[in-house]
Amino acid sequence: MDIKIAPSILACDFGRLGEEIRTVIEAGADLIHIDVMDGHFVPNISIGPPVVAALRQYCSVPMDVHLMITEPERYVADFANAGADIISFHIEAAKHPHRLVSAIKELGCQAGVVLNPGTSEDDIEFLADVVDMVLLMSVNPGFGGQEFIPEVLRKIQNVRAMIGNRDLEVDGGIDETTARMVVEAGANVLVAGSYVFKSESYLEAIESLRLAGK
Ligand code: DX5
Ligand code: ZN
Repeated sequence: MDIKIAPSILACDFGRLGEEIRTVIEAGADLIHIDVMDGHFVPNISIGPPVVAALRQYCSVPMDVHLMITEPERYVADFANAGADIISFHIEAAKHPHRLVSAIKELGCQAGVVLNPGTSEDDIEFLADVVDMVLLMSVNPGFGGQEFIPEVLRKIQNVRAMIGNRDLEVDGGIDETTARMVVEAGANVLVAGSYVFKSESYLEAIESLRLAGK
């Protein structure tokens, strides 16, 4: 499978968000990963729909919106209207996840479901056939720059066996070394915040992640 690289703008210069997005797309980003945090589901607060809408014009590749919020069902329409292409919600936060997947698709977006490191893939057994993407957290959500949790590797293998050739994204602590490990286990979409945005060259960082997957 082709490896897709999704830089997380959480690690970029927030004072120059639009410019950073353009630059990282020129450097080869396949998706732009946008972390939405509400200060409830996770301790941190990041960005909301108006910022996503403002960034749309800078983003010539799909916007991959990762909702780390309670009551995600209340906000999916706002993010779809803001221009999100993929909307992923946490299984731990959704009361009616199956209904929410349908709602996201009806809004014209792809639907993804996210699992925290401590959540078993069993929790999505009956969603696996309806989602467009599964996102596995390889750190506890809320912050960039944390260390990769290796137990997720087995979960990647299990989820790959459940979803055929649909997208399996991994998020947290991804660098050249862990990229190789997660791709080997079955991931095909790599989120990377610090590794890309704290590097000297976005192009070289993205290329090294892509190569790690070969
Ligand atoms: C964490 C976010 C990640 C974060 C990854 O809650 O979901 O997308 O930006 O950052 P790194 O790649 O630095 O671990
Ligand atoms: Zn994320």
